Amino acid sequence: MPSSTTLLTILILTLSFLPIALSSHIQACSEPFLKLAQQRNISDCKRLRTLGAEFAWSYHNGTNSSTVLEILFGATLDAPQGWMAWGVNPGKRPEMIGTKAIIGIKLSNGTLGVKTYDITKETKHNCNLFPSDIGLGLSAANMLMRREVFNNVYTIYARLTLPSEVYNVTRLNHVWQVGYHIEGDRPLRHPTTLRNVDSTEVMNMTSSSGHSTGQYRSFLRSVHGVLNIIGWGTLLPIGVIIARYFRVFPFQCDPMWFNLHIGCQLTGFLVGTAGWAIGLSLGHSSRYYTFHTHRIYGILIFTFSTVQMLAFRLKPEVTDDYRKYWNMYHHFLGYGLLAIIFINIFKGISILEGGDGWKWGYIGNLAFLGAIAFGLEVFTWIRFFMDKAKARSENDEAIKHDRNKEKQDSVEAPKPTKT
Ligand code: HEM
Ligand code: HEM
Ligand SMILES: *[C@@H]1O[C@H](CO)[C@@H](O)[C@H](O)[C@H]1NC(C)=O
Ligand SMILES: *[C@@H]1O[C@H](CO)[C@@H](O)[C@H](O)[C@H]1NC(C)=O
Ligand SMILES: *[C@@H]1O[C@H](CO)[C@@H](O)[C@H](O)[C@H]1NC(C)=O
Ligand SMILES: *[C@@H]1O[C@H](CO)[C@@H](O)[C@H](O)[C@H]1NC(C)=O
Ligand SMILES: *[C@@H]1O[C@H](CO)[C@@H](O)[C@H](O)[C@H]1NC(C)=O
Ligand SMILES: *[C@@H]1O[C@H](CO)[C@@H](O)[C@H](O)[C@H]1NC(C)=O
Repeated sequence: MPSSTTLLTILILTLSFLPIALSSHIQACSEPFLKLAQQRNISDCKRLRTLGAEFAWSYHNGTNSSTVLEILFGATLDAPQGWMAWGVNPGKRPEMIGTKAIIGIKLSNGTLGVKTYDITKETKHNCNLFPSDIGLGLSAANMLMRREVFNNVYTIYARLTLPSEVYNVTRLNHVWQVGYHIEGDRPLRHPTTLRNVDSTEVMNMTSSSGHSTGQYRSFLRSVHGVLNIIGWGTLLPIGVIIARYFRVFPFQCDPMWFNLHIGCQLTGFLVGTAGWAIGLSLGHSSRYYTFHTHRIYGILIFTFSTVQMLAFRLKPEVTDDYRKYWNMYHHFLGYGLLAIIFINIFKGISILEGGDGWKWGYIGNLAFLGAIAFGLEVFTWIRFFMDKAKARSENDEAIKHDRNKEKQDSVEAPKPTKT
């Protein structure tokens, strides 16, 4: 039955895409960075998930129920001037506002400096960022920014004391950031690509692998991507293939083609709409950045597929005169829709910057569907020409037969006269 087939398809696809989507595997540090950490007797080290940043840490119990945390934060600063920051957030969530930050600044003449800052709501709006005392036992003596010998990498080393009532080292909110604009020695706004807004996590400093959570936005983005790829990107095209090749020619599977077509299109539409809604709500909650083209295509896709879905109810009767035009329009819009869907999926994948897993996963998916469609198309034409050839030879045969018959007729009997 159509429903179980589509369910199976969804299941297989989900199983093949989820690992890519949800892999939040912890990556070990690069060799040179690990060396730098070891020079400071810091052995735990991991790559952070954005901005090419790396992070090494060690901790021990301090006096007065506190934890002494030593960190080494490294990131690439390609621009002639800029800043990089690392900080902890005593609030509920790992986010920019409320962060106690250590910011290292690189001036255009190469001078480096590192200071502490309180990041507030005002910072986000008009960026009045001036150094302030954030406590945590931080002073010029235990903070250092350095240019390392490889690949424009800069590091910030700091030793801070976290009071246990405020910070729990088994789930510490920490954030990092890199910006490319400064004014004098004041850091200015950083870019707001996904890389820059995904640079937060909740980390368990007592786990030597650096286990982290708190990436619910990027989790939702992955869910958005998976649902859209399955709904719009896979089930709808399968439904189109079914309608094209199994309706009349080369295979006539009535009414199975119709049930399967409707099953695929309806499930695809529902799954895709769920993904679309997640995308819209993500877009809505991040007021400071919008992906205009992706958004517009997304809205077009939803609108036109809704129109296509209305075909259920508004389809003219087979006998109606304008059924032919209606069919033309339904097919035309259908193929146009597929084109926008494919474009938008690749746009989404490039926004996500999720690496090649997504891209090749979907290209593989399309190649598979494309191969099936191509095979069926070739088969259609072969069958078309064979049928035609057969019809012609049958026709020839028939004509020959007729002629023979005529000859015989003419011999044996007078030609029939028209009446
Ligand atoms: C220099 C002035 C700064 C300005 C004007 C600024 C502005 C912004 C803006 C507009 C966003 C996008 C928010 C959204 O739509 O979700 C953002 C996000 C973010 N910023 Fe900043 N920022 C500044 C400094 C910093 C610093 C120093 C840090 C690091 C300590 C930082 C860390 C982050 C993080 C982690 C996000 C991700 C989203 C969030 O947590 O709100 N920013 N920032
Ligand atoms: C054809 C299928 C798709 C549709 C209709 C769609 C639709 C949307 C819409 C309407 C938004 C909100 C845009 C905004 O307001 O800024 C959005 C955001 C987004 N989409 Fe898609 N999308 C599709 C496929 C994908 C895919 C395949 C991926 C990635 C694998 C993806 C990744 C994203 C990301 C990363 C955002 C930004 C979320 C945020 O603001 O945090 N999209 N999408
Ligand atoms: C690292 O540990 C070794 C041995 O315990 C010690 O000799 C060395 O001074 C330490 N280095 C730093 C930077 O603390
Ligand atoms: C820190 O102190 C707690 C008890 O307060 C103890 O259980 C833990 O092992 C100590 N950790 C280190 C690294 O000394
Ligand atoms: C620990 O707390 C006591 C009393 O609150 C204070 O006098 C002392 O300076 C504190 N020690 C440290 C290292 O902060
Ligand atoms: C770089 O410029 C800053 C201020 O503009 C100045 O304080 C510093 O001494 C300069 N450094 C060098 C190496 O010229
Ligand atoms: C820190 O969080 C863990 C897990 O939620 C909890 O078991 C532990 O008691 C907390 N420690 C402190 C000092 O609050
Ligand atoms: C943090 O990691 C330690 C060591 O792996 C583990 O025992 C502890 O349960 C973890 N705590 C949390 C809150 O994840």
